[in-house]
Amino acid sequence: MRAVHAEGTGGPEVLSVREVDDVRPGPGELVIEVAATAVNRADTLQRQGFYPPPKGASDIIGLECSGRVAELGEGLDGAAWAVDDEVCALLAGGGYASRVAVPAGQVMPVPDGVDLVTAAALPEVACTVWSNVFMVAGLQPGESFLVHGGAGGIGTFAIQLAAALGSRVLTTGGTAEKRAFCAELGAAVTIDYHDEDFVEVARGEPAGGVDVILDNMGASYLGRNVDALATEGRLVVIGMQGGVKGELNLATLLNKRAAVIATSLRGRPTEGKAAICAAVVEHVWPLVADGSVRAIIDRTLPLEEVAEAHRVMGEGTHTGKIVLTL
Ligand SMILES: NC(=O)c1ccc[n+]([C@@H]2O[C@H](COP(=O)([O-])OP(=O)(O)OC[C@H]3O[C@@H](n4cnc5c(N)ncnc54)[C@H](OP(=O)(O)O)[C@@H]3O)[C@@H](O)[C@H]2O)c1
Repeated sequence: MRAVHAEGTGGPEVLSVREVDDVRPGPGELVIEVAATAVNRADTLQRQGFYPPPKGASDIIGLECSGRVAELGEGLDGAAWAVDDEVCALLAGGGYASRVAVPAGQVMPVPDGVDLVTAAALPEVACTVWSNVFMVAGLQPGESFLVHGGAGGIGTFAIQLAAALGSRVLTTGGTAEKRAFCAELGAAVTIDYHDEDFVEVARGEPAGGVDVILDNMGASYLGRNVDALATEGRLVVIGMQGGVKGELNLATLLNKRAAVIATSLRGRPTEGKAAICAAVVEHVWPLVADGSVRAIIDRTLPLEEVAEAHRVMGEGTHTGKIVLTL
């Protein structure tokens, strides 16, 4: 099979496509003949040597894919999937390859009306946003929701999903063009993170803050995020683009009866990922199928141009996802 090989760690130039040994399905796994995969920020960290794969996962980069079922592992005969089914999957690794083995619970059908290549851009954003914003933070219709980095892969999906489910959405963005796009996707308020204070904007909301925040920045935004929460607000940290160690004012948190939670999708056990995938198929796929929410794709490149895809993500000029086709 073909796969992306990393020659040591470093910049995008360490990545190239090579022939490697075929993967075989383990018990309870199936093998997908990959049609497309997508780039995640975590992939760029893994390339640099900062985010090793969890124990037992493939050391080939790639956290999601779409394709056709090629082989069923032991114990899957007569199960939900058959050879040739079109699927997409949440992976712990191995997506940047022409074949990948994945536990059956992390495999999802391609939503109705979505083509196979576009489906590669859905598993990470749908599972991350649904699990954090709805399962963990419990965002309710009528509540307000701030997502940082609204023009990114996660942000573009979070804006649409929260707006479709009845929340008032606020978001931050780095350029006027990106903020205008976020507004088109359903953000009621867009904030320039270079020149505006999102805390001040949040405090201007009717509840004196926002109910839920999805944060990609970590340490550099920790104190201000707590300041921006309404009473009983929930902050979910999923990224550390602004560092790992921050200072938390417990008095502010206590007075607001607020919560700070941090989660990671990749390191969860298979059963946890399977529960999230099942919830996504139940709650999110119908909204994708009826067009309320769609995958936003910045560009699609052949797998051979993986280094260019990583360069673009590092530069941060993209809006939405970067997809790689096989
Ligand atoms: N914990 C998990 O399970 C999990 C799962 C998936 C993703 N993540 C994390 O989620 C984050 C987003 O992932 P992604 O795939 O959407 O990456 P992405 O497409 O590269 O998006 C990154 C976003 O960061 C924004 N940003 C940069 N500096 C900012 C600042 N000072 N204030 C606010 N926003 C800023 C960018 O905004 P502009 O483009 O406007 O500059 C961009 O929208 C990453 O940190 C990723 O590691 C975590």
